[in-house]
Amino acid sequence: MSAKSVLRAVDKNKYDVTMIGISKEGRWLLAKDSAKALQSTEVTGTDLAPVMLNYSADRTLMALDSDSFGEILEGSIDVFFPILHGPFGEDGTIQGLLELAGSAYVGSGVVGSAVGMDKEVMKRVFRGEGLPQLDYLVVSRRRWRAEAPAVRAEIEAKFTYPVFVKPASLGSSVGVCKIHSADELAAGMNEAASFDTKVVVEAAAPASREVECAVLGNDFPKASILGEIVPGNEFYDYNDKYIDDNSQLIIPARVSEATSDRVRQIALDAFTAVGAAGMARVDFFVGKDDEKIYLNEINTIPGFTPISMYPKLWDATGIGYSELIDKLIELALERHRDRQQTRTAL
Ligand SMILES: Nc1ncnc2c1ncn2[C@@H]1O[C@H](COP(=O)(O)OP(=O)(O)O)[C@@H](O)[C@H]1O
Ligand SMILES: [Mg+2]
Repeated sequence: MSAKSVLRAVDKNKYDVTMIGISKEGRWLLAKDSAKALQSTEVTGTDLAPVMLNYSADRTLMALDSDSFGEILEGSIDVFFPILHGPFGEDGTIQGLLELAGSAYVGSGVVGSAVGMDKEVMKRVFRGEGLPQLDYLVVSRRRWRAEAPAVRAEIEAKFTYPVFVKPASLGSSVGVCKIHSADELAAGMNEAASFDTKVVVEAAAPASREVECAVLGNDFPKASILGEIVPGNEFYDYNDKYIDDNSQLIIPARVSEATSDRVRQIALDAFTAVGAAGMARVDFFVGKDDEKIYLNEINTIPGFTPISMYPKLWDATGIGYSELIDKLIELALERHRDRQQTRTAL
């Protein structure tokens, strides 16, 4: 949906767009007629050609099917716009491939993407910067499986229920569980551990608003006005995000001006701390009564439909959807030019 929205809004007089889809198996598919491919929900094989990125030379896309193997299907790609969420999209892996190809791309580089994706490393980096966050504990899946009673004792010594458990590197609330009491702990840990080798156990935020800030820029990033998510379910889980659609977006967030200023500054600090670039959405919990601020996470590839929080926040701040896409591409080119000036040998 995000890709479809970007394709629709991108300035076609300025940019010549080539669509690449990635199948669940990791296969790259070139949509010859990209607009059509995105319109139909059931894209048939004939519309899609398997391709690979020639990263060793000229950033061309080459055919992978047996008849025309190696034939160049698309000329050199100047800028990639990864509109991908989660592992192999948002975590620095595809960014690494694009680095090898010597290509410009929208958003964070390898380090910013990888740190933003791994909640344990992200939290450690935030802690190093003195940014406020909830207490947490990281448990490896192997340890949980080997010594569950000791892990349980450790969790119960450190926290009182409810706690949240989450896979360290996933997103979209997949595998995130709210544990209300001791008898739910094992099931929640097992669920989170089925999605990752590390599980983050975290204190539940005291009665809070979920507040989000959009950041845009490279070395001199800017923070948007704030938005608020009112979950339709007990928390903002997968169903609430993508299926039930009962949650509400409120812009601006219902917090005082002083708190808003503070949140925006922390969002910028978080962006810089993980080494993000281009764009990110930084998410917070803000106490309903005391407006106490806890940084929750940074998302280096936020949702990108016109009704997603990231573009909505920029729209409310004065940058419309098409202009935002344009700015992101400019930022990608700027960063690429900057990095090209770096020496890689003596
Ligand atoms: N410590 C917490 N206290 C209260 N709610 C939480 C906490 N952690 C997560 N949540 C809820 O779960 C949702 C998903 O958790 P989050 O850490 O943002 O993971 P993801 O990366 O999957 O989005 C949040 O938007 C929030 O509604
Ligand atoms: Mg989240």
